[in-house]
Amino acid sequence: MLYPRELIEEIRFQNDIVDVISQYVPLKQKGNSYFGICPFHHEKTPSFSVNSEKQFYYCFGCGAAGNVYGFLMQMEHCNFVDAVQKLADRANISLPEPELTPKAQEMERLKQRLFEMHKTAGRFYYDMLHSAKGEEALAYLGKREIQPNIQRKFGLGYAPEGRRVLYEHLSEQGFTSDEMVKSGLVMENKDGRGYHDRFYNRLMFPIFDVQGRVIGFGGRILGKGEPKYLNSPETILFNKSRNLYGLHLARKTRNKELILVEGYMDMISLYQAGFHNVAAALGTAFNQDHAAVLKKYVESVILLYDSDEAGTRAALRAIPILVKNGLAVRVIQVPDGKDPDEYIRHKGAQEFSKLLVNAEHYISFEVKCLQKNYNLENPQHKVEFTTEAAKILAGLDNAIEQDVYLAQVATMTNIEETAIRNEMEKMKTKQEEAFSKEAQRKRIQNYTEQSAAQFYHSKGIMEAQRSILSLWIAHKWIYDKMKHLLLPEDFLDPAYQKAAMLIGKWYQNEEAIVPADLMSYFEILEEQQKITAIFATKEEVENKYDMEKIINEGFRLIKHAGLERKKQTVHSIEELQILNIEQRKLTQLYITILDG
Ligand code: CTP
Ligand code: MN
Repeated sequence: MLYPRELIEEIRFQNDIVDVISQYVPLKQKGNSYFGICPFHHEKTPSFSVNSEKQFYYCFGCGAAGNVYGFLMQMEHCNFVDAVQKLADRANISLPEPELTPKAQEMERLKQRLFEMHKTAGRFYYDMLHSAKGEEALAYLGKREIQPNIQRKFGLGYAPEGRRVLYEHLSEQGFTSDEMVKSGLVMENKDGRGYHDRFYNRLMFPIFDVQGRVIGFGGRILGKGEPKYLNSPETILFNKSRNLYGLHLARKTRNKELILVEGYMDMISLYQAGFHNVAAALGTAFNQDHAAVLKKYVESVILLYDSDEAGTRAALRAIPILVKNGLAVRVIQVPDGKDPDEYIRHKGAQEFSKLLVNAEHYISFEVKCLQKNYNLENPQHKVEFTTEAAKILAGLDNAIEQDVYLAQVATMTNIEETAIRNEMEKMKTKQEEAFSKEAQRKRIQNYTEQSAAQFYHSKGIMEAQRSILSLWIAHKWIYDKMKHLLLPEDFLDPAYQKAAMLIGKWYQNEEAIVPADLMSYFEILEEQQKITAIFATKEEVENKYDMEKIINEGFRLIKHAGLERKKQTVHSIEELQILNIEQRKLTQLYITILDG
């Protein structure tokens, strides 16, 4: 960790969780707890609770949980260190310089320099656009009807003619050639002597990260020519697969639906027309990383790609990626082969919002695209089309959706719904068979840690670990009774292992265990959620008979699963026998707490 533990605890102490969360979510008090509408999933009745005494939040609906740091990480999509910094700021506590390794320090320093440089370059391009040199570029923006306030909001600029205009400017500002090359804004000459700018005579679009910092540029040629857009290369700041243009603005809307477009101009056009929940994947096809980023902010995506062939193909490729990541997907095809930017400019925002409302379910879009390849007057084509369509429909797991689109295909082809459904059933069985065969193959052939992990993370075993940790935290004497029987490494989940280790350490030092402090040791959101669940999902057990039952059941379950896991990696029969004996002994072991 970058900062001393005491400081982290002090900052947490100075930021009451109820106060902090209240800034985002209206809360109503009920006894020691506060309730509100969960900001992390859609709901109508409040199941989001904040425990003021223990200083954690927990949602009974979606399981979101953590202390005040966890809340900030989840709400602001930031990491633990960012959360610490934000809350230190809020409490007016100044932080010492973080302790980094020399290598990490160097990396961090370079990053800061590159951020600085991009800011400087953006400022420079902006000034150029508004200088005499920028006349043509500014006129071009006028022609494309981008208002001055929007130009400013997006920091649009102009890279003038000349081989090293930016290079000279950045040099004057104290940046080294080496730094410039690392930023991608400047390139070494082919002969290895001297440098030149990447961008010249182009309209410049700064590319922002989600926090609104400039990390790269896209440059559009004025008028016709190739390439139409030239983008910054990947750098230590700019990861093309993880960045979506405009997401820094879209996320501020807190809208759970996002309009995904293809390019800079579409994004800006929609924004200007008042649709602020829009972003574009730039310079690279939409991929898994993009989808994972989007999933952090939204639940559904409206695909708004060009309606030409390339756009349609790109949309068809993006759909399965989005669906696989649990995003609901609808598609809009702009009429008359226009791209979204042109459409809005010609028809206005009102007409455009009609398109939005009528966005179609992705299945219906897929079926329509499929149909274009067939002539339904031709019987052979009709059969092939219907078979392919049935395949698409079989992939839907929502029965209602399936019915709706089945009816659609039936109407298109004039084939009985039942016939198509039969075909779908066959495919489903085939898919399922293939699936279960595959599963079996996996089970038998290569027993992987991963599939095993599922077992060890089953509900019962997770709960057993939570129950025991909860009792240990509440009662030192129970911990003392068990500490030699159940070691930290016996816990199956790494987060619970670490918790057990910390509890032991604190008891040994005769320190009190503060739940919200324990949570701070888990800087990854999912781990913190697991730790918080120790406190959130448990009624406090006071009856010693109940305690004894929980302890013994939990203990046996955990130990047994641990031995099972060891069995998977034994190298000899002898080892296996030893483990079997241990397992048998386990059934005879009983921990009693009642007499002491
Ligand atoms: N693009 C790119 N490099 C190119 C062409 C396109 O990176 N040589 C990316 C850009 O992000 C562009 C998007 O693909 O915004 C869509 O391309 P296109 O439809 O050709 O551009 P438009 O956004 O319609 O651009 P404009 O309206 O300025 O012609
Ligand atoms: Mn366009």
